[in-house]
Amino acid sequence: MKRLSVLCSLLLVAAALGTELPLATPCDEEACKLPDCRCSSTNIPGGLRARDTPQFVTVTFDDGINVINIETYREVLYGRSNSNRCPAGATFYVSHEYTNYQLVNELYNRGFEIALHSISHRTPQAFWADATYQNLVQEIGDQKRQMAHFASIPASAIKGVRIPFLQMSGNTSFQVMADFDLLYDCTWPTTALTNPGLWPYTLHHESIQDCIIPPCPTASIPGPWVLPMISWRDLNNFPCSMVDGCFFTPDRTDEEGWFKFILTNFERHYLGNRAPFGFFVHEWFISSNPAIKRAFVRFMDIINNLNDVFMVNSAEVIDWVKNPVPIDRYRQQQCKFTMPSICRPSFCGPLTGTHNQASEDILFVLLILLLAVYGRISWKST
Ligand SMILES: *[C@@H]1O[C@H](CO)[C@@H](O)[C@H](O)[C@H]1NC(C)=O
Ligand SMILES: [Zn+2]
Repeated sequence: MKRLSVLCSLLLVAAALGTELPLATPCDEEACKLPDCRCSSTNIPGGLRARDTPQFVTVTFDDGINVINIETYREVLYGRSNSNRCPAGATFYVSHEYTNYQLVNELYNRGFEIALHSISHRTPQAFWADATYQNLVQEIGDQKRQMAHFASIPASAIKGVRIPFLQMSGNTSFQVMADFDLLYDCTWPTTALTNPGLWPYTLHHESIQDCIIPPCPTASIPGPWVLPMISWRDLNNFPCSMVDGCFFTPDRTDEEGWFKFILTNFERHYLGNRAPFGFFVHEWFISSNPAIKRAFVRFMDIINNLNDVFMVNSAEVIDWVKNPVPIDRYRQQQCKFTMPSICRPSFCGPLTGTHNQASEDILFVLLILLLAVYGRISWKST
């Protein structure tokens, strides 16, 4: 008995020092219960039948938010509502570089979700695979504060993470998320658990999810949720995590083909176990392919009119999984409310990063352009 308690305290000290995390063990449904624990599985939360389960659709955009891509967001997302008259959601995984925070603030005030995608978004991809705890504190933990500060939004509204290149580093990003009070990660693709789809789960216990881009977490890390990126299937049945990463697709000018392609992927969820359906994309793909943009808008127009489909912020999916209710009760709930916050623009002067040669080159070009324009104006006015 005494030996056991000595062993226990030694283990506690080891855990506190962060030397080694406990290895996750197979999940026990009896021990792991909602709202804070869920085994990785394709079972519908709350034991609901598929026809009683809201079909959530998460539209997400990655990378910097700026005067170029905000035009697309305004055009395709603003003013959209679900059939329950609540504003339709979307989630932005924002990286710091090329981000205009006044526009982040605008998206937040419109009710969209702002989530983290690192400060530097640096290359090479191996940086993320090998990232240490300290690296990820600087990229993700610090970004939470940075985002709250520059976009003038509450830190508590920042809940999600997507690591650049979908490259996890095993346990590390989840440890940082646990320590920085982040709710969920949406980095981890699954190609094996798509039909029926894998519902969100926690990492208290061993995950059954396939590891597409290793290393994946294997430790027991209570706290953060995994919102799996359930892969689409392209026309040759190859999986793709991001829509713009699908290979065998309809021609990019074929609106009808794309509309059907999106619907086919959606129906795998909607007519299946209703695991959340992700439309994960980068803005350039939408804006540079007008036919795909029209197909995407048509798709949203359809689902926004279905009584059992809800286009929501990703964090709302986790909220529902924690407390699953059938569609009729879900429809009676109040819409989410965002307290608007103001954000005045201010110019911080040229800032240089050391991570990315390309960005320095672009800054240099911008500086020269600025000087040229300024030169012209002052020359004209004299
Ligand atoms: C994650 O933690 C587990 C348990 O300590 C360990 O066995 C595993 O090697 C860790 N993963 C990585 C990639 O470091
Ligand atoms: Zn990215």
